[in-house]
Amino acid sequence: MARILVKGPTPLRGKIKASGAKNACLPILAASILAKGRVLLKRVPNISDVHTMLGILQGMGVKAEWKGREELELDTSSVITTAPEELVRQMNASFDVAGPLLACYGEANISLPGGCRLGPRPVDLHLMGFKKLGASVTSEHGVVHARAKKLVGARITFPKVSVGATKNCLMASVLAEGTTVLENCAKEPEIVDLANFLVAMGAKVSGQGTSKLTVEGVSELHGVEYSVLPDRIEAGTFLIGAAMTGGEVTVEDCKPEDISALISVLREAGQQVDVGEDYVTVKAVRPIQPVEVATAPHPGFPTDMHPQMVAMLGLADGASLLNETIFSGRFMYAMELVRLGAQLRVSDRQVFIRGVQQYSGAPVDAPDLRAGAALILAGMAAEGETLISGIHFIDRGYQDLEERLRSLGADIVRLEKPVPARS
Ligand code: EPZ
Repeated sequence: MARILVKGPTPLRGKIKASGAKNACLPILAASILAKGRVLLKRVPNISDVHTMLGILQGMGVKAEWKGREELELDTSSVITTAPEELVRQMNASFDVAGPLLACYGEANISLPGGCRLGPRPVDLHLMGFKKLGASVTSEHGVVHARAKKLVGARITFPKVSVGATKNCLMASVLAEGTTVLENCAKEPEIVDLANFLVAMGAKVSGQGTSKLTVEGVSELHGVEYSVLPDRIEAGTFLIGAAMTGGEVTVEDCKPEDISALISVLREAGQQVDVGEDYVTVKAVRPIQPVEVATAPHPGFPTDMHPQMVAMLGLADGASLLNETIFSGRFMYAMELVRLGAQLRVSDRQVFIRGVQQYSGAPVDAPDLRAGAALILAGMAAEGETLISGIHFIDRGYQDLEERLRSLGADIVRLEKPVPARS
């Protein structure tokens, strides 16, 4: 298995461009099924989750051709309604194809998804919405079967905020008969980007960015050219890296308004943060001040930056607290950070962090995508060598990560073969 070797401490210094957002690109790829005709997507990140979603679409008959490094052309003129199970099991977002299939073809047969183990990943809210739109839904042997002659617009009020359920019900409703109102929706920028993509294809959606979306069903959607929004989680990861390593990093071509919660926390931690129209610069200030932060649905502090933030607060001058309110299984990174010298304790869903002067390099194992990113950042701040396994998780959501970190001065390399046991 490949591993990543990081040598530290090395300050990150320089400029980097944000990639297209994984969590916008995945539902937009799924929604391309709704178009009758050619869809050309730009700023498509070259990450394994995109390749998995592409494999699922191709397994259903979609034709896909890369037109450039980050440019993808899709032909969705003939699609079957059963997704390849072995791929669906690899990624939670695979379930995003359910809504478009149901909307376009009146049926969807999707196995319950797999993916990063952050705790239970149910889809009950997705299925509740499909039923409200008139679908009959059964599940057996781990496969969900949804059927509907014609979806009919309805009022869907989510009992809890869910990014996945908001996406799927939005995509299912755009071809339904009549009006659909979605209430208590997730407001993540990736949902706004998906809604904007659907509107570009001819859908009628209003309320983007609010907790209430209103959809007027249309008879069909047409092909479109669309550029995916910048990845706020990737941008935030680089900016936290600047603060942790005592460097200065500018992330260009990003949307500062999408990471306002992170910017506030970095400033509270004493870091110098400059914000422009489409860039954010973090210049590290020592010592890092301890803070208290809780994750929350957007515009709150994103759960996808929890491990990276804890890695930074592990180097603060004092005691910090992070409260994880979304995923019960988000804490697998904690013991790996402790191996690097962090002093933290997890109790219930709270992480109590006592800052240390410096981390010391050690072999660690990435248990999920964002944990892997946090371990790489910690390795760059640590004294000595950090060997990270489980990097297939990192490849799910960060494109060309080593090269891009090396361009910022990191001493990082991917070892394709297992490291020979020391004699
Ligand atoms: C999306 O996951 C993101 N993934 C996650 O990013 C992100 O952490 C999460 O939203 C929260 O922001 C993608 O966009 C591909 P949810 P999703 O539905 O859609 C519960 C990353 O690292 N729930 O908002 O699965 C669920 O158990 C990934 O890029 C139900 O109870 O998130 C969880 O506790 C990790 N029933 C909470 O809601 C449902 O039907 C949030 O889930 C659906 C969800």
